Amino acid sequence: MSERIFIFDTTLRDGEQSPGATMNRDEKVRLARQLEILGVDIIEAGFPAASQGDFEAVRDIALAVQNCQVAGLCRALPSDIDRAWEAVKGNPQARIHTFLATSDIHMKYKLRKERHEVLDMAEAAVKYAVSKTSNVEFSAEDASRSDWPFLAQVFERVIAAGATTINVPDTVGYTQPQEFAELLKYLIENVKGSHKAVFSVHCHNDLGLATANTLAALKAGARQAEVTLSGIGERAGNAALEEVVMSMDVRKDFYQLTTNIKKEQIFPSTRLLSLIIGQPIPPYKSIIGANAFAHESGIHQDGVLKNRQTYEIMTPESVGRQEEDMVLGKHSGRAAFDKRLKDLGYRLDEEQLGIVFTAMKKLADRKKEIFVEDLEAVVLDEIFRLPD
Ligand code: KIV
Ligand code: ZN
Repeated sequence: MSERIFIFDTTLRDGEQSPGATMNRDEKVRLARQLEILGVDIIEAGFPAASQGDFEAVRDIALAVQNCQVAGLCRALPSDIDRAWEAVKGNPQARIHTFLATSDIHMKYKLRKERHEVLDMAEAAVKYAVSKTSNVEFSAEDASRSDWPFLAQVFERVIAAGATTINVPDTVGYTQPQEFAELLKYLIENVKGSHKAVFSVHCHNDLGLATANTLAALKAGARQAEVTLSGIGERAGNAALEEVVMSMDVRKDFYQLTTNIKKEQIFPSTRLLSLIIGQPIPPYKSIIGANAFAHESGIHQDGVLKNRQTYEIMTPESVGRQEEDMVLGKHSGRAAFDKRLKDLGYRLDEEQLGIVFTAMKKLADRKKEIFVEDLEAVVLDEIFRLPD
């Protein structure tokens, strides 16, 4: 029997902390709606105390998205918690996500607090958040570099105070898969009351191990994965949703874990993100990159022609990719063009569609065939070009 993993998407919060990935309020709402279609369980919509703009975006997302949980991040301070709750409360399953650092280096230099003060502060923050909603997540920032018995003590106190999700972040991408799995096992076995909470992991990619660390922790008993589309995020990014989800799907035999993700919405979702932030998906990116299903060498091409499974562990269609590369010619009509854009994951409104259609026709006059890359270039140029 497979066990269910909750997918917590933080593209709109940690993802937005990626250099150059800033989104405006309308763009965030649009992406949040797509995340809902994708089937994520929780959308972390932003950090409401960070700015008025962030507050308004989280508030609008909480109202626009009704079929999955919307979370707002906040420091372990009453004023931050108030702000987060004000922003998310329009969502029927709103979550407050509060965090506090627990590693010695963060406590000493950043917080300038002793261990006993951090314990009290974490407990007080969770109690205060619980006075607003029973859906409270607590994150121990820099958990992977924290002292294990102290971390267990912090988690015991916040679970007793009412936290229902306990997040173990690898904030600086420092941990290694086996070590992280051992940490999760240790916490699940040693934290009193651990059965009352869902254990979650949140991994950064500084050493390129975010996905591996996330999967190792899930195998060890964590039941929530914090991820972003395409792995965007602070510094080298976060664990990529598509990698974590497809690993569990392709290797069901190994993980015996399932998610609620609609796989065929993966590619359209990452394309929409790419369109919004104006950054192309790197061609070599697993699952969603242009080369991910391209077979270059003769031996591989021959094998694939005989049986695709010789060199393909999943089909492009299973993640929502179209097989054919050629898109349109100058005789294509607006309806075909609109459909092709939708297949590619672009969600344009009528006005944007008209602009891109006209530009594409001009290009088709000069170029006989229009390929995916041409279409992407037109969309990015016409809709997201920077003012001169
Ligand atoms: O990386 C991190 O520690 C975070 C927390 C706020 C969850 O993003
Ligand atoms: Zn993070």
